[in-house]
Amino acid sequence: MEYKLRKAEPKDVSDILRLVKELAKYEEMEHQVTLTEKELLEDGFGDTPFYHCIIADIQGESSSDDSKVVGFAMYYFTYDPWVGKQLYLEEFYVMDEYRGLGIGSEILRHLSDLAMKTRCTGMMFVVAENNEPSVQYYKRRGAEDLSQEEGWRLFRFDKTSLVKMATPAEE
Ligand code: ACO
Repeated sequence: MEYKLRKAEPKDVSDILRLVKELAKYEEMEHQVTLTEKELLEDGFGDTPFYHCIIADIQGESSSDDSKVVGFAMYYFTYDPWVGKQLYLEEFYVMDEYRGLGIGSEILRHLSDLAMKTRCTGMMFVVAENNEPSVQYYKRRGAEDLSQEEGWRLFRFDKTSLVKMATPAEE
């Protein structure tokens, strides 16, 4: 099956949201997705993009058929004060019926090339503990499990906590 990788464009936001929801469903956390296409459009394609996406397209049966978005990776750059630039892999997903064709490996190759080009020293990501197939997928490619090896714990301040800590809004 012929597939092609390309940078996401504004017209892709509905497919990006569709795949974000599919991955959340796979992780049994679909109800937590509240993001809208409008937010994705503003946040990814404005003056300061907060994320980037690489899209995997499959061409239809005949040349007149539209291509179909079947996978994607969402990423951004972060900074580690010990070692410098890092690529952060936020989301990585290929639709069930298109898995095992090498699309995921090609996306990782693309991201690794980008990391080399931008002189990143690593690619960070979080995997749900019960997502054993993906844990193994990453480990087969050399990923280290830092929560196990270094004991890091993942934290978040949610909006309620932020509001409590923030400067009170003026009456
Ligand atoms: N389905 C899945 N895996 C298969 C299948 C199949 N039908 N058939 C074979 N495989 C094996 C392949 O042999 C290959 O093994 P390898 O690791 O030894 O190379 C591997 O599974 C698949 O490799 P690719 O074809 O390169 O990757 P794929 O296109 O299937 O994408 C991905 C990998 C994105 C992890 C995909 O399996 C997926 O979407 N999984 C479910 C969602 C998920 O867990 N995403 C990662 C969450 S973590 C995060 O986002 C940071």
